[in-house]
Amino acid sequence: MQTDGLSGKHILLIISGGIAAYKSLDLIRRLKERGAGVRCVLTAGGAQFVTPLSVAALSEEAVFQDLFSLKDESEMGHIRLSREADVLVVAPASADLMAKMAAGLADDLASTILLATDKPVLFAPAMNTRMWDHPATRRNFQTLLDDGLTAIGPGQGDLACGEVGAGRMSEPLEIVAAIEALIGDAAPELPLQGRKAIVTSGPTHEAIDPVRYLANRSSGKQGHAIAGALARLGAEVVLVAGPNNLADPGGVTVRAIESAAQMLAACEAALPADIVVCAAAVADWRVAGEAQQKMKKDGSGQPPALALVENPDILKTISHLNGGRPELVIGFAAETEKVVQHAQSKLTRKGCDWIVANDVGAGTGVMGGDDNTVHLITAQGVEDWPTMAKDAVAVTLAERIADHFGSE
Ligand code: CTP
Repeated sequence: MQTDGLSGKHILLIISGGIAAYKSLDLIRRLKERGAGVRCVLTAGGAQFVTPLSVAALSEEAVFQDLFSLKDESEMGHIRLSREADVLVVAPASADLMAKMAAGLADDLASTILLATDKPVLFAPAMNTRMWDHPATRRNFQTLLDDGLTAIGPGQGDLACGEVGAGRMSEPLEIVAAIEALIGDAAPELPLQGRKAIVTSGPTHEAIDPVRYLANRSSGKQGHAIAGALARLGAEVVLVAGPNNLADPGGVTVRAIESAAQMLAACEAALPADIVVCAAAVADWRVAGEAQQKMKKDGSGQPPALALVENPDILKTISHLNGGRPELVIGFAAETEKVVQHAQSKLTRKGCDWIVANDVGAGTGVMGGDDNTVHLITAQGVEDWPTMAKDAVAVTLAERIADHFGSE
């Protein structure tokens, strides 16, 4: 079930006579999907187009049709029907019902409820284009707007009567959006809304020749999880990812790269940013003079000498940017011994703000595994986090980042 601004809201849907009434069945479903309660009133005209049984089955409520029904009035009077709703929605609103509403008539259940209500009313006109264009309808429409009602549509297009023009009832999702605008609870502002983050993830591949490369065992799980967690807190996220087998995290822009040099270029292109998290296991070295053709054995039995050169340090480069340095630059320190000690000196050496240090030694299962045991090192000191799934580390880190920006 989708839960958003209409969850728990009570909607009284009045379905009047018109072929567009079939779309109101879908409207009921869309509203229920969003957690709203829907109670329906079917006019005599509406009942010519959709059956009370379909409306009752979809709304999971009794359907109300008669003003003078002793049963309906004793169980749920017309006044209570409107008082118990947060909003009244008239869809379709026929020319006839609009005329009654504008004139203040109350000769059936729907018009009586509309006259008796103190709730906001949204109406979705639907009729033949000539009826819509008639001065009487235009007058009635304007009167309803002047009375404080809200209209949605009608749209243009092919009409069921075979003519083309204005008069189509708005689509169910457009009506849902209009109801949300009228009475929906605004989504709470997310803590990283308006912030931009760049996250590096995965290994890099450094080409030896067109078919071979140097790489490492990083899976990218931690970096991808961080990108997703930041996006869920509202940040705009660019994920610069080395080769991996992971699904792209939702709501994140992914830039796929292979080498460290490409990773740096992609990060620079994604700047400026408020937050940079370097979670990638960047290869420290690349092969000097990558061969343009596949290297062949020369028959001498001697392996080729691979000369290496140092790669650019992405974390260090971003940490030392002069002008436009992101406010919060976070690195990882994958260590196999003296984890905290090495990480603290890495914080100083790289010039970043925080370091997430983890023990990747043999037997820890961190590289490629699902769990991680980390220490967060900041200027304030060292926090030891308990062993958690990489997803949970990501969520905890994203929340710490949000706290940092929230406490400014
Ligand atoms: N890093 C980077 N660019 C590099 C190397 C590392 O951005 N060329 C980042 C990593 O993403 C990580 C941090 O620097 O956030 C530390 O990476 P790590 O491999 O642990 O450290 P190194 O810089 O390789 O240092 P050392 O060789 O001393 O372990």
